Amino acid sequence: MRTPRRFALRVNGADHAVTCEPQTPLLTVLRNDIGLNSPKFGCGLGECGACTVLVDGSAARSCALPVRLAEGCAITTLEGLGSVAAPDPLQQAFIDAQAAQCGYCIPGMIMTAKAFLAECPAPTEAQAREALRHNLCRCGTHVEILRAVMLAAERGAGGAAP
Ligand code: FES
Repeated sequence: MRTPRRFALRVNGADHAVTCEPQTPLLTVLRNDIGLNSPKFGCGLGECGACTVLVDGSAARSCALPVRLAEGCAITTLEGLGSVAAPDPLQQAFIDAQAAQCGYCIPGMIMTAKAFLAECPAPTEAQAREALRHNLCRCGTHVEILRAVMLAAERGAGGAAP
C-alpha cells in the first residue's frame, strides 16, 4: 500500500491528477499538490477540525482521510464556496459577524457549518453549538462564530452543500 500511484481527484469542480502513496492524507495533497491552502494543519489527528473539507457534501477531516478514499468523490474546500468578490452567504455572515480573530480555524468552521446548514437550514442555537463543538478555536471567538452561523441561517444560507 506504500507504492505511489496516480489518483484522479475532483476538487472544487476541477479535475486533478496527483501521484502519491495511497495513505497520504487528503490534506497534504490539497495543500502541497493542488495548492489549496484553506484547509489547515492543526492537530493532524482528526480532533481539531482545522482541516475540514466537504466530501460528497459531508464534513470530513482531511488530515485523517487517506487520499485513496477520496478518489471519485466531490471534494470542496473553502476556495470552492466563494471568492472575495462574490462570497458564499455563509462566508459573508462570518465577515458580518466579525467571527475571525487569527482566522486559522475559520475555513474548517465554515466547511463544518456549510454541511450542517445543508442538513439543518433553520437550526436552534443549541443545534448549531452542538454541530460545531468539535471544531476548536484557540482565540476563543466561539460566540462570534456561533452568531455567524445563526446569521447565515436567518438569511436562508442553508440548503444543499456543493
Ligand atoms: Fe485535521 Fe486537526 S488538523 S482535525
